[in-house]
Amino acid sequence: MEFRDDITAFDSVKHDIVGEKGYYNCQISAKLFEILEENGIETHFVKLLEPNKMLVKKLEIIPLEVIARNIAAGSITRNYPIKEGTVFERPIVMLDYKDDAYHDPLLNDDIALAMGIATEKELEEIKHIAIRVNDVLKKYFASIGILLPDFKIEIGRDKDGKLLVADEVSPDSCRLWDAKTKKSLDKDNYRFDKGDVLAGYKEIYRRMFGDPQ
Ligand code: TMP
Ligand code: ASP
Repeated sequence: MEFRDDITAFDSVKHDIVGEKGYYNCQISAKLFEILEENGIETHFVKLLEPNKMLVKKLEIIPLEVIARNIAAGSITRNYPIKEGTVFERPIVMLDYKDDAYHDPLLNDDIALAMGIATEKELEEIKHIAIRVNDVLKKYFASIGILLPDFKIEIGRDKDGKLLVADEVSPDSCRLWDAKTKKSLDKDNYRFDKGDVLAGYKEIYRRMFGDPQ
């Protein structure tokens, strides 16, 4: 899997190139996959190949954006009367249908079953995986002074039908806020022109890997 420097938002209506983004996302994603694996969550990650390339297992990707939310931000504050910053007592898991042509609409289990996207058992397991990933990532990011308001993961089936975490886990696909200032260190800086997107990614990298020697 190659991590490119392209950055997009709003179904690619907005598109730019941010130099070195591919490198930072690949390194951050690799380490987060390792942390998930250490905590017993299986992922498609095998090893890093190049600074912006990783070897991953071949999976059949389920067309879902599996989202977990701890603190209200983004679409949930636009689509429901929920104020940004509201802390949820228990995480909210949402499944969006991954298809830009339909603008990734929110699904429920009945729609997902009717569309044949996944079985009932798989849907249960997917939600369970989202909660476990959330527990691990939330704790890890807290240890480096970062809040995890929400994230999106993708899940794939291997040849035996086992479900694994796929795609990437990076500041492109997670909201990450500095715990003290609540400043975004993620792709929202690009989506909503809030600040320097690469500076945020570099700050996450620095907290995860330390300062360069
Ligand atoms: P949302 O608030 O826009 O629904 O986003 C929820 C989470 O999903 C957030 O962490 C950003 C991530 N995300 C993606 O990874 N890809 C996408 O296309 C979108 C819209 C959000
Ligand atoms: N996946 C979205 C797009 O390409 C980007 C996002 O909002 O994360 O438009």
